[in-house]
Amino acid sequence: MSKYRFSHSSIYIDGTDIPKNNLNINSSEEIHEVENLLLSEAYEKFSNQINSASLLDETYFINLHKKTFESLYNFSGLYRDVNMSKGESQFCLAQYLHTESKRIFKELEDENYLADIKDDKALFAKRLAYYQGELIALHPFYELNGRVTRLFCDMLALFNGYKLIDYSHAIDNGAYIEASIECVQYADSSGLEEIISKGLFKYE
Ligand SMILES: Nc1ncnc2c1ncn2[C@@H]1O[C@H](COP(=O)(O)OP(=O)(O)O)[C@@H](O)[C@H]1O
Ligand SMILES: [Mg+2]
Repeated sequence: MSKYRFSHSSIYIDGTDIPKNNLNINSSEEIHEVENLLLSEAYEKFSNQINSASLLDETYFINLHKKTFESLYNFSGLYRDVNMSKGESQFCLAQYLHTESKRIFKELEDENYLADIKDDKALFAKRLAYYQGELIALHPFYELNGRVTRLFCDMLALFNGYKLIDYSHAIDNGAYIEASIECVQYADSSGLEEIISKGLFKYE
């Protein structure tokens, strides 16, 4: 873990929601373009690397964030040390972040990374939604939690013989945020389960 620490406000360029970045980009449009490009390169790279020996543990999750965005952001791969909220939702308090993260990934390991239930699509979707909800409530990074959490769950899907999950409809119509709110505020991942079920398909 790096010795560098960031306060929440120091992540962003003053008066904007654009994170300070190594390319000195200060337009929203441009930063989204670069983030999208890095994310699609990451999807290609990590999808190609997934195999039956892959270990989708906490280090793997953190590395998705780090490897995808380290050319752009200095906070890549670092867990935050400030509390964060969105709307009415308070994410995991910074002081519990590491313990909670270890708890979640230990549970996933104990469930054998969902390999034992992969043939039961409904159950697989339910458990994947549970873990995605836990990571949404954890919200461990300063930024890009949504995209990296879905990238991780997509890699879990690939690892278990499913295609990348299609969230596009739910993200476009706000259902994904509604389902996230239920996860964070009520520990209820049933909305997310419904979204994931609809976008989850086995490789033939
Ligand atoms: N009001 C909210 N309550 C709970 N969770 C939320 C809320 N708004 C957004 N989220 C969750 O936070 C994620 C966005 O976090 P963020 O770090 O900005 O990632 P990204 O930049 O990839 O979208 C969303 O995908 C969603 O899961
Ligand atoms: Mg964001």
